[in-house]
Amino acid sequence: MNFKEVLEGRRSVRRYSDRPVSRDTILSLLEAAETAPSAGNLRAREYYVVISPELRSALSVAAFGQEHLAAAPVVVVVCADPARSGTRYGDRGQLYSIQDAAAATTCLLLAARDLGLGSCWTGAFDEMVARDLLNLPRRLVPTAMVSIGWPDERPAPPPGRDMTEAVHWIE
Ligand SMILES: Cc1cc2nc3c(=O)[nH]c(=O)nc-3n(C[C@H](O)[C@H](O)[C@H](O)COP(=O)(O)O)c2cc1C
Repeated sequence: MNFKEVLEGRRSVRRYSDRPVSRDTILSLLEAAETAPSAGNLRAREYYVVISPELRSALSVAAFGQEHLAAAPVVVVVCADPARSGTRYGDRGQLYSIQDAAAATTCLLLAARDLGLGSCWTGAFDEMVARDLLNLPRRLVPTAMVSIGWPDERPAPPPGRDMTEAVHWIE
């Protein structure tokens, strides 16, 4: 698959087959995530890999009943570490850590697509409940729950938009 196919073919997949995802495959996705840029190369992000079906079900409840989190064989919770960025960048570090985590999440999704895996970035969840379930250290902020598995659906591309809505040329 070439890069354009990875970009254009990636879809949010919310239905998965029973086929397991190996630990090596998960590790390769996390390595891809870590290739993402980060402010000052501080990599102010961490990953919680949830295999446990009980915990995935609990995360699904924390995400207001989003079933794909319980249905996927793996959920990776990407966390930002604002304190890590903050030590060098002060208040601006808060924003950088969220960006570090988002950049990593994007690379994770694209790497999954490259391997033929489906994934879904899930941002709607109760942060306090997620923190408790994962027993997160206080310094970490969970930013995204990414469900990952072999796809059992091929969603159609969502409507795009005219680039002129988004792009501003300043000559
Ligand atoms: C910050 C962010 C939060 C999102 N949260 C959710 C979510 O809570 N549940 C969900 O099913 N999809 C979620 N998505 C996925 C979007 O719905 C999806 O990317 C969008 O509809 C475009 O579809 P596509 O990913 O197939 O291109 C989220 C995506 C982003 C970037």
